[in-house]
Amino acid sequence: MVIAIDGPAGAGKSTVARAVAAELGITYLDSGAMYRCVALAAVEAGADLDDGEALTALAAGLDIELDGRRVLLGERDVSTAIREPRVTAAASRVSVHPGVREAMVARQRQLIAAADYVAEGRDIGTVVSPDSPLKVFLTASDEERARRRAAETGDDFAFVLDAQRRRDARDTEREHGALRPAEDAVELDTTGLGLEEVVGRVVALAKDRGLA
Ligand code: DC
Repeated sequence: MVIAIDGPAGAGKSTVARAVAAELGITYLDSGAMYRCVALAAVEAGADLDDGEALTALAAGLDIELDGRRVLLGERDVSTAIREPRVTAAASRVSVHPGVREAMVARQRQLIAAADYVAEGRDIGTVVSPDSPLKVFLTASDEERARRRAAETGDDFAFVLDAQRRRDARDTEREHGALRPAEDAVELDTTGLGLEEVVGRVVALAKDRGLA
């Protein structure tokens, strides 16, 4: 069983998905971390981020392990390295390639077939797990999302807002696995809401549907 939490960068997906998973006692799956692993490997290999064929081969050969806490690329703990700004920017570029997405979606389906998950990303409810019994689409205003990210990273607000708009455009305009709510998703605007309130609403939805 998968509870799908999708939405744009900075809407609070990771924090909310982690907290909901902890409250329900099930595993958290950060699908964005997988695209970040592809981006990290590509940046380190000096790969051309527009070369879909080369990136597909690279992605298919990666050994990515997630345990809900750490992200491992082969034997290496890359939990911190994948959050670097250059990797963040590269992740939204490598994730437009259909072959890269296919490889990551296959790995995600392999994981979710084996256990219950709260999975977060952009296409969990639409592509990875379209039969999820609960799909939540988290949003927040552009400014609020950028404010949250700037507070987290210490970067300048205007810089964060600009980079976020470019990432949003790439995420929503790409042909495969584009960011959009599933038809049966519950849309939750978190602007002005505290973490506890958002988590409480998602947990209540899960309980209403007999998932917890
Ligand atoms: O959620 P995040 O910021 O860690 O995601 C990193 C990048 O990966 C982001 O640019 C969008 C992409 N991504 C994706 O295309 N599909 C997903 N299911 C998750 C993330």
